[in-house]
Amino acid sequence: MKKLLFFLILSSQFAFSQFTDINIVKEIRSKDKGLVVSAHPLASEAGAKMMKMGGNAFDAVIATQLALAVVYPQAGNIGGGGFLVGVKNNGEKFTIDFRETAPSKASRDMYLDKNGNANTDLSQNGRLAVGIPGSVAGFYATLKHAKLPMENLIQPAIDLAEKGFAVTEKEARLLNSQMEYFNRHNKLQTVFQKKTPWKQGDILMQKDLAETLKRIQKSGEKGFYEGKTAELIAEEMKRGNGIITLNDLKNYKVAQRKPIVFDYKGNEIVSMPLPSSGGVLLAQMLKMSGFENLEQYQQNSTEAVQIMVEAERRAFADRAEFMGDPDFIKDQTEMLISDEYLKNRWKSFSKNQATPSSEVGKITPQPKESTETTHISIIDKEGNAVAVTTTLNGLYGSKVVVSGAGFFLNNEMDDFSIKPGVPNMFGAVGGEANSIKAGKRMLSSMTPTIVLKNGKPFIVVGTPGGTTIPTSVYQSVVNVIDFKLNPNMTVNSPKFHHQWLPESVMVEKNFPETTIKNLEKMNYKIERVAQIGRTEMIVVDENGNATAVADGRGDDSVAAE
Ligand code: DON
Repeated sequence: MKKLLFFLILSSQFAFSQFTDINIVKEIRSKDKGLVVSAHPLASEAGAKMMKMGGNAFDAVIATQLALAVVYPQAGNIGGGGFLVGVKNNGEKFTIDFRETAPSKASRDMYLDKNGNANTDLSQNGRLAVGIPGSVAGFYATLKHAKLPMENLIQPAIDLAEKGFAVTEKEARLLNSQMEYFNRHNKLQTVFQKKTPWKQGDILMQKDLAETLKRIQKSGEKGFYEGKTAELIAEEMKRGNGIITLNDLKNYKVAQRKPIVFDYKGNEIVSMPLPSSGGVLLAQMLKMSGFENLEQYQQNSTEAVQIMVEAERRAFADRAEFMGDPDFIKDQTEMLISDEYLKNRWKSFSKNQATPSSEVGKITPQPKESTETTHISIIDKEGNAVAVTTTLNGLYGSKVVVSGAGFFLNNEMDDFSIKPGVPNMFGAVGGEANSIKAGKRMLSSMTPTIVLKNGKPFIVVGTPGGTTIPTSVYQSVVNVIDFKLNPNMTVNSPKFHHQWLPESVMVEKNFPETTIKNLEKMNYKIERVAQIGRTEMIVVDENGNATAVADGRGDDSVAAE
């Protein structure tokens, strides 16, 4: 009897300590509190908690990313990489590039068969698709801007992994949709595999991941890049065709790069430079559509969309030809975003008529064979702002979980141009600038962005969505600055996307039918898609009132300090 009582008390305590309260909050307004917007309520709450404990936006962003690695396994990660843009209250603007890199054994033609045909299954699934993860090094590079010790920042993630949390309906659906891939790409059983389908409220407990996080808590970066975790990664590589070695892990380094900074109608835009194409594309698109006085039109009107699609077409053609890791290629950013170059590029724009993609770019497309990333926006009451986008690339990355360490590995190698003209999983083509080389970073589209007005944070924004990221961020900026929309409308109204190749224009459901019809008359091919991106946005008005909005398309959620 005593034993039973003991068991009951223990198990009820245990059940109580699980994270079963999932409270999605879509919008918070505040004048004097720090705000966190991310893809999951438990992750936003972890960030907000750090600010309550005396931390700043940088403490919050580390804790939020770590919590996402537990509660949002499709994209939150320690097995992937990303980019951070920060602006401090002393005016300092900086970026941290913690993008994955190609392993030392990687080579230009590693995904080509003996006939020279590209095998996108290998670049997208399984162990050969994995780039050397950068996220943990990214957290430590961020730490120098934070106030609290990593020990505290990692604790919420450890608790979530150890005690377990209730999966949302959307997460359950996603896990079920990928079960076949988890079964195919994992030799040993993982906590994500289940005989019966996942359903809302099921508890996901990740003991191995909790141990990995504790090793990081105890030994810092070395808890990931050396010792047991590194050995587990290297062993996982050997269970298939993986090539990442212990030395690759030990040698991983973040890069601190100068942000792209440019003026847009009196606002200062701060965004990510190469090896993400995001900031360059954003500058090109804003400047090109700036030649046409966009503010005279309405959001999603025929005129505005036609101008913006044509700006997107030209920018993405340049992405394919010129962009890659600046440590390996000639960085042409200055030229690409110069007024002179863009004015010239815009000469071929014709109102009321689609420009054929073949007229604005060079790469010859080859047939396409065939999502997940996540963004966090944060401001704190001290006036710091941070935007970070992080990814495993595809949904649950390579689908490979490191046995014994409990986390998914990315499939970021597919973001290289595996053969000139062969589209990646987002349909983007590239050439020599983005070819594979050992130690090189694959070109990204991630666009974490902070807009300043009079030197102070005005907009903090970003989104997942592969190649739709820069065009979504572009629309967010234009919606606020040109079309004067409130943050909720900006984030939740239907979006469109064009990327030079393929030639079609994607529109989200509920996109205005009259605009679609008018565009079709001008020779635009329209492709209807269910969703584009998940934007997390904070806008601060001139009186210092901040509004944080989490995208309605997912479980995204805001938390306040
Ligand atoms: O770096 C990139 O551009 C891609 N790996 C991002 C992938 C992504 O956004 C998937 N999300 N839906």
